[in-house]
Amino acid sequence: MTIGSMMNAMRDPAGVPGAPGLFEALFVGTWVLHIAFVLLTLGACALAVAGFLLRESGPHWARLSAAMTGVAKIGVSLLIVLGVAPLLFTQVIYDPQWYASNVLSASWAIGFIATLIVGYCSWFVFYAKNEASAKRVVVAYAVVALAIFLLDGLIMHALTYQALLPERWMEWYAPGGVVDTSGARLHAVQWPRYLFIISLSAPAVGVFLLAYADYFAPRSDIDPSYLAFARTLGRKIAVFGSPVSLALLLWWTADLPPGGHLVAHPLAFLLALSLLALAWLVWTKSAPGRGYLFLGAGVAMLLLLSIWREIIRVSVLSTFGYSIDDYKVNIDWPSAILFATTLLGVGGLVGGFYLTLCYQAGRAREVYFPGASVARLGSAAVGVLIVWIATFFTYGAAVWVKNVFLP
Ligand code: HEM
Repeated sequence: MTIGSMMNAMRDPAGVPGAPGLFEALFVGTWVLHIAFVLLTLGACALAVAGFLLRESGPHWARLSAAMTGVAKIGVSLLIVLGVAPLLFTQVIYDPQWYASNVLSASWAIGFIATLIVGYCSWFVFYAKNEASAKRVVVAYAVVALAIFLLDGLIMHALTYQALLPERWMEWYAPGGVVDTSGARLHAVQWPRYLFIISLSAPAVGVFLLAYADYFAPRSDIDPSYLAFARTLGRKIAVFGSPVSLALLLWWTADLPPGGHLVAHPLAFLLALSLLALAWLVWTKSAPGRGYLFLGAGVAMLLLLSIWREIIRVSVLSTFGYSIDDYKVNIDWPSAILFATTLLGVGGLVGGFYLTLCYQAGRAREVYFPGASVARLGSAAVGVLIVWIATFFTYGAAVWVKNVFLP
């Protein structure tokens, strides 16, 4: 049996419930959201630690540290929620690779959840204690949390990377012919890839600070010198962080599978170019008012990275004769309609309502009162949730009645 036919045999025999290309696009698109919050969180964690340690060296560090502690606290919850979507999509079209890799490092895959809980709790302790009068030792909670988040990123990376090396699965499953079911090892790490992705936390938190300064600019109760400090710092971090990322990207490119077509791929150039362009734009055009634009440019760069990861995956797996286009397609219209309407209805209205509410509330100096349009959006969000819950349970009950009671 060849490796390709083994992977094809490991596929879910039920096939996929829609065009594989659609799931691939959703995978690539939703991963951008996941990694955006991963990078913002890691960058905010590092800055919160630095700000805490530097709080006696300037008037704004303590405040920035507290603000970044809050950003990271919310960031972790969002990166987890937004990690679920690509996780589901990779399980649909890359199920043989994802499951094989997870089983081969099962203890790490399970430990990932436990460590994430410990890391997040540790971050919460730091969040609760990060005040001007806090003792220096408190920072240990933040350092432990950050180290755990980095470890979790490494586990995620190893699970992703091992999935691209099916020719080595047998050697990991049964080293020397003896089956090892412990799942106790991370078998493969591609350091340049991992470090490159993690290094993007610097430009990510840098452009975030530019948008942060713009966002709070209309608030008369916030000291403008603090916002100017955040803007200058963000600019420096984004500009000086980018060459480090670029060097790591070049290292990763040199470490790609031989054969040349990936190394010279236009997308690798585009990715490198986008990093340089972002640094140049931030350096030359970071006047107040452009923060959201830089944030948008950063997200566009992450989309290139996401596409690049997918190009590598498709290219590597095609050498084994594996293609997602060979999946048996069993279109399940009710599920597809439920999914699309949930995304638009619940995602659009409920998500839109919360985003608008948070955006406006954060900018209000005193108590925030939503206007008529936000109130209408809120009512529509509650309405769509009721419709969604009713549809979900009615559909489930109908399927159950059909399967159990009807011939
Ligand atoms: C602190 C926690 C986390 C960190 C630092 C992190 C970081 C990362 C990184 C660096 C990658 C890219 C790996 C690579 O391409 O080499 C990645 C991929 C991914 N992460 Fe996370 N992650 C975290 C938590 C999560 C959680 C909780 C989920 C799911 C609920 C998740 C789902 C995913 C998925 C589905 C991928 C793509 C896997 C693939 O390409 O096959 N991550 N993550």
